[in-house]
Amino acid sequence: MARLEGRVAIVTGGGRGIGRGISRAFASEGAAVCVAELDADSCRETVAEIESGGGRALAVVCDVSQSDQVEQTVATVVREFGGIDILVNNATGAREENSFKPVLEHTDEDWDEKIAVDLKGSFYFMTRCFPHLCESRGKIINLCSLAGTERSVGFVAYAAIKEALRTLTGVAAKEWGEHGVTVNALCPTALTPGVAAFLESNPEAAERAVKNVPLGRMGDPEADVGRAAIFLASSDSDFMTGQTLWFDGGQTIHA
Ligand SMILES: NC(=O)c1ccc[n+]([C@@H]2O[C@H](COP(=O)([O-])OP(=O)(O)OC[C@H]3O[C@@H](n4cnc5c(N)ncnc54)[C@H](O)[C@@H]3O)[C@@H](O)[C@H]2O)c1
Repeated sequence: MARLEGRVAIVTGGGRGIGRGISRAFASEGAAVCVAELDADSCRETVAEIESGGGRALAVVCDVSQSDQVEQTVATVVREFGGIDILVNNATGAREENSFKPVLEHTDEDWDEKIAVDLKGSFYFMTRCFPHLCESRGKIINLCSLAGTERSVGFVAYAAIKEALRTLTGVAAKEWGEHGVTVNALCPTALTPGVAAFLESNPEAAERAVKNVPLGRMGDPEADVGRAAIFLASSDSDFMTGQTLWFDGGQTIHA
């Protein structure tokens, strides 16, 4: 039997990159997937890909930074699919495709966007899905980043907000364990449109990007990161909560 048969998942930012990879991977394991995405075209493309492969999916255009849109999305999924088992907070602010710049050049808007999308957007979805996840003893996966733990130069707002999201992950894991809801962080490395755009305009970083990966390559959004997400979404990870899964080809190795 498929590992997510009968489960219902919401994947935010599922229109491209890792979000699309996870959406496709979940559908291939039998889940019904709501792709909750700001960009209407890419949202529909992911859903069309899943449906053409025989899977079940729903496109919902949603700005995760708007709590009323999050509430509408959750209500739509419950109405269409009957509940929620898995939430993946994957959307990341994309106001500027290349947001690599020193601390002193970061603007108020850079911070506002990361707080609104990556942090508050995840909080909105977690809290609005919570009653449904209690019923299903469901699972939350929050996409975080080694940029945070490595204090990566050039990414202060992104790095800091991803660490705040890891903190939200840990606190919610402790508070919600008694309800059977697990909350974990996934820190991936994958060649996505977002990463490709960054590497294109930063050739030095592009050279380092693969050199720094012990396994010698960038991950694939579906074949690599999608499989890690399946583990965190399936009953194989039932006894794991509040943890960070580093899925980055060995870039992060802690003693
Ligand atoms: N790709 C990597 O190597 C890598 C490394 C570390 C962490 N991550 C994390 O993984 C996740 C996915 O990364 P990616 O590289 O696929 O990103 P991406 O930029 O390629 O895709 C992000 C998606 O989020 C959507 N989005 C942006 N703002 C939104 C909003 N307000 N509401 C709804 N959707 C919105 C975009 O339209 C896009 O489809 C992110 O959270 C990122 O921080 C990625």
